[in-house]
Amino acid sequence: MGYALPMHAREVGRIPTGLPAGDDHPYRTGAWTPNEIEYDADELEVVEGTLPEGLDGVYLRNTENPVLPSIGRYHPFDGDGMVHSIRFANGRASYRNRFVRTEGLAAELEAKAPLWAGIIESPAKSQREGWGARGRMKDASSTDVVVHNGMALTTFYQCGDAYQLTPQALDNRGKAPWVPATGISAHPKLDPVTGELMFFSYSTEAPYMHYGLVDPKGTLVHHQPIPLPGPRLPHDMAFTEHYAILNDFPLAWDADLIAKGVYRPKMHDLPSRFGVVPRRGGDIRWFEAAPTYVLHFINAYEEGDAIILDGYFQSDPMPRPDPADGPYAGLKKMVDLHAMMARPHRWRLDLRTGKCTEERLFEDISEFPSLNYHKPGRKHRYAWSMTAPEGWFLFDGLVRYDMETGARQRFQYEEGVYASEAPMAPRPGASQEDDGWLVTFTTDIERDRSECHVFDARHIDAGPIAKVALPQRISSGTHACWAPAGTL
Ligand SMILES: [Fe+2]
Repeated sequence: MGYALPMHAREVGRIPTGLPAGDDHPYRTGAWTPNEIEYDADELEVVEGTLPEGLDGVYLRNTENPVLPSIGRYHPFDGDGMVHSIRFANGRASYRNRFVRTEGLAAELEAKAPLWAGIIESPAKSQREGWGARGRMKDASSTDVVVHNGMALTTFYQCGDAYQLTPQALDNRGKAPWVPATGISAHPKLDPVTGELMFFSYSTEAPYMHYGLVDPKGTLVHHQPIPLPGPRLPHDMAFTEHYAILNDFPLAWDADLIAKGVYRPKMHDLPSRFGVVPRRGGDIRWFEAAPTYVLHFINAYEEGDAIILDGYFQSDPMPRPDPADGPYAGLKKMVDLHAMMARPHRWRLDLRTGKCTEERLFEDISEFPSLNYHKPGRKHRYAWSMTAPEGWFLFDGLVRYDMETGARQRFQYEEGVYASEAPMAPRPGASQEDDGWLVTFTTDIERDRSECHVFDARHIDAGPIAKVALPQRISSGTHACWAPAGTL
């Protein structure tokens, strides 16, 4: 059963759930049951194995943690942000978790009622204007987290602000001052070599996209419009040493439907396009590729006159709901990586000819990449990904890919145990790209508890080398990051 509260743990905050007792929503129950209590817990118990001495930094995970009932239909990506973190140093570990105190959450708590409808509900049902690419949404800041300029930044996939939390204590520090009025999407990209942060935003109004760059000290030094042919639904971007890579996929909103107030994504009869723009601004060059939708890119790098871009190609970006799935049929398919058939894929953008060639890299259905912390934008050999159980947005295992030899390793959790995105923390001073660790939080339904697991990144198939007990069972979520001690 659940772990007893450790001796060095204390409750530091609480927002009692406003969800109805007996809630049966599949993404507010089970592994997705939201948390209410904010803890500080030090001297965590290592229940199995040993924490590596060299593991020095913070693992941060953002989660969608709804406080109040939804207006109409709820989508798991609507929930309020809550960040969970574990700080490792000298073979010991501490845990913190905090709500992201967004303006939207504060307004709803004051009103004691939800004010904004989520992504699969009509924006007309929202009570206020709000935020987001389509407007009339709450900026829940619950999608992503990255540490830049000594601050953890949480972001929302439908665009909004970047909320700041101190990366160790998780103190809320309000909005990042550099975010432009057009907002930013989730997945701002940190270049660990230069300390720059690249970001994009999108909206339903021309020019439909913007791209920008923030310097290592948190000053917005570049921001430019990226004109697109219509409203789009980009989720991620990539970058190399000299370029940012944006995208224009055929899975997008429909301008005619938007005119009627309907924000329903549709697969248009168009190619995929990748837009290559110099990092600090300039003309964009577009490359056409086979139609698909890419939720996440693994990495990109320059090789001679080409850009190599790795990501997960979806064979069916808009799977049809199965009526047998009942009232949540549409939602179930919308977040099922197996139904979308997401697999590792490589695009090669030839900067001389303007042509794009592409190939599948591995057959596994997988998504949510991790890469050696130092490798974004540079040539990588290894990537790790999460696997998912069919029909669910949950992570049930990890897979390791060697892009050079094609070798792969797999680790599968037992049923009822789900992991979180597992970034790669390099061993300080390591000379090998895969010398380091993967860090993940687990949610164990049967035992009603959570642990933090550390894997040797070279041998994930051997299972975790250390397991640490957390003071509470934590909710599932989407994104996580690793921040080495020197960046905190
Ligand atoms: Fe994402």
